Amino acid sequence: MHKAPIVLAIDTPELTTAIEWVKATQDYISVYKLGLEFFLTFGSDGVKAIKAVTDSDIFLDLKLHDIPHTVSGAAKAVAHLAPRYLTVHASGGAAMIRAAVDALPATHVTGVTILTSLSEDDVSEIGFKSSALVTAVGLAKVATSAGAGAIVCSPLEIAAIRAAIGIDPIIITPGVRPADSSVVDDQVRTMTPKAAIETGANLVVIGRPITQSWKLGAAAMRDRSAQIASELI
Ligand code: C5P
Repeated sequence: MHKAPIVLAIDTPELTTAIEWVKATQDYISVYKLGLEFFLTFGSDGVKAIKAVTDSDIFLDLKLHDIPHTVSGAAKAVAHLAPRYLTVHASGGAAMIRAAVDALPATHVTGVTILTSLSEDDVSEIGFKSSALVTAVGLAKVATSAGAGAIVCSPLEIAAIRAAIGIDPIIITPGVRPADSSVVDDQVRTMTPKAAIETGANLVVIGRPITQSWKLGAAAMRDRSAQIASELI
């Protein structure tokens, strides 16, 4: 079986657990997402420890957002880890995104549009003049025009963003839930992974619907990732 277009979110405070999760699932998972908590705790050595047990891609979810010079330096600082994806906030603007792209030509600099945790009221309060959807489309255009190879958006924004940015940029979406998911959590407006891919996403970010099976053991987690993967390939 091929690896499925799934980004597995490695959200755990323990490096040994992170490594076990990757070992258990890597036959089926294309990309592993290592976030700020992971990177600030385990640093480059932690990323290398993950890379040592898999040939799947690394998605470094650092959501950089600063002046272009600083973002360029930060991107160069992780170049030796050769992440396939590195996130920046698209609202940092075209010059900042371009600085990351120039610093890391072999990485898909990935523009985060609107955080899925923000409500319409939040988006307005921050100062965006349009709805979350219209703002996300605009930010996706800014990011891809500045050279970002990928963007992150909510499933509800996939269709409009795909129409706006064309077929080439990679669209990555969290906020997906398998139809049989029993995970009760903070994802409110969701889509199934299959529906997200059919709507135009290239990769879906999944965390707890797979990682919660770890409490039943490595074989259960492997089976769960295989099951969700089989719905996508
Ligand atoms: O909810 P789940 O565990 O599947 O989340 C996986 C990843 O999706 C998280 O690491 C987070 O980056 C992202 N997420 C999100 N919006 C949410 C919940 C999670 O973008 N409401």
